[in-house]
Amino acid sequence: MTEKGEKKIISLQDIPGIGEKTLEKLRNAGFIDLMSIAAASVKELSEIVGEQTAIKIIEVARKALDIGFETAADVYERRKKVVRLTTGSKALDNLLGGGIETQAVTEFHGGFGCGKTQVGFQLAVNVQLPPEQGGLDGACLFIDTESTFRPERIKELAEAVGLDPKKALENIIYARAYNSDHQMLLVEKAAEIIKEKNIKLLIIDSVTSHFRAEYTGRGELAERQQKLNRHLHMLQRLADVYNLAVYITNQVMARPDVLFGDPTAPVGGHILGHFSTHRVYLRKAKANTRIARIIDSPYLPEGEAIFAITPQGIRDVED
Ligand SMILES: Nc1ncnc2c1ncn2[C@@H]1O[C@H](COP(=O)(O)OP(=O)(O)O)[C@@H](O)[C@H]1O
Ligand SMILES: [Mg+2]
Repeated sequence: MTEKGEKKIISLQDIPGIGEKTLEKLRNAGFIDLMSIAAASVKELSEIVGEQTAIKIIEVARKALDIGFETAADVYERRKKVVRLTTGSKALDNLLGGGIETQAVTEFHGGFGCGKTQVGFQLAVNVQLPPEQGGLDGACLFIDTESTFRPERIKELAEAVGLDPKKALENIIYARAYNSDHQMLLVEKAAEIIKEKNIKLLIIDSVTSHFRAEYTGRGELAERQQKLNRHLHMLQRLADVYNLAVYITNQVMARPDVLFGDPTAPVGGHILGHFSTHRVYLRKAKANTRIARIIDSPYLPEGEAIFAITPQGIRDVED
């Protein structure tokens, strides 16, 4: 109970006037907690519970979570807390404006073997370093959708930066997502663990593979985009609220339907484009080197950087 005697709203069931039937409809559509409602659009929810209820519950959820309007001064205060995490390569850090930033979603996309997962492993280790070494003194939450997580590789990377490999493994909380609903649920449930374990980096490798595998038909594309959209909203929200860095990967695949334009457009299309604050396109170059290019970032200048994937991890190219 609050001072005014109102019931404190901590879950969907607490919203006044929301019945079991409405709850069930929401649940069936994947809206299982306040955060998912707060991040939803009126249009989206109207289709499930009608416009009036939609408007009401979104407002209540946003108020309960204390998200909604803020002044420019608030935004400025929040932005002052943005910190950056090193990738291990100065060239790549510079391209990103000093590293992967908190309160943002950074998406790396590119073809198979271009290094998206290796960059993720490196970040999962580097986040544990103290700030003077480019880290955030925090832990990592790693959501794996492709079963490509390798603790042996993490140990190698940890040793190379002078961390105790055993501790480094303990500071990476791992979850395997079995399908897109499970993946979304893991993110929706992440808040607890983020606070409890001092998580400063959230990784989803890859963010799109389940969505791509499950929604294959032409007619399902809109639904896929809508779900991905909600998922990415949630990630951005977590990044803002907990001052987290979020790193997501997205495998590009050739689109046979595209005859003109870029045949390797990333899955998720413009939806990912809108919500990933920073998008980086990776491609293979000579030997173990890779080229990263910034794609439509709100404030990073366009440009490219070259880095290497070495046995010790992500590094600058020696010249
Ligand atoms: N232990 C290692 N030492 C050096 N390079 C490695 C090592 N492990 C992986 N790599 C490099 O990383 C590449 C795979 O990158 P990865 O991150 O798995 O690609 P993606 O996730 O984009 O498909 C390999 O082709 C190899 O060049
Ligand atoms: Mg990978």
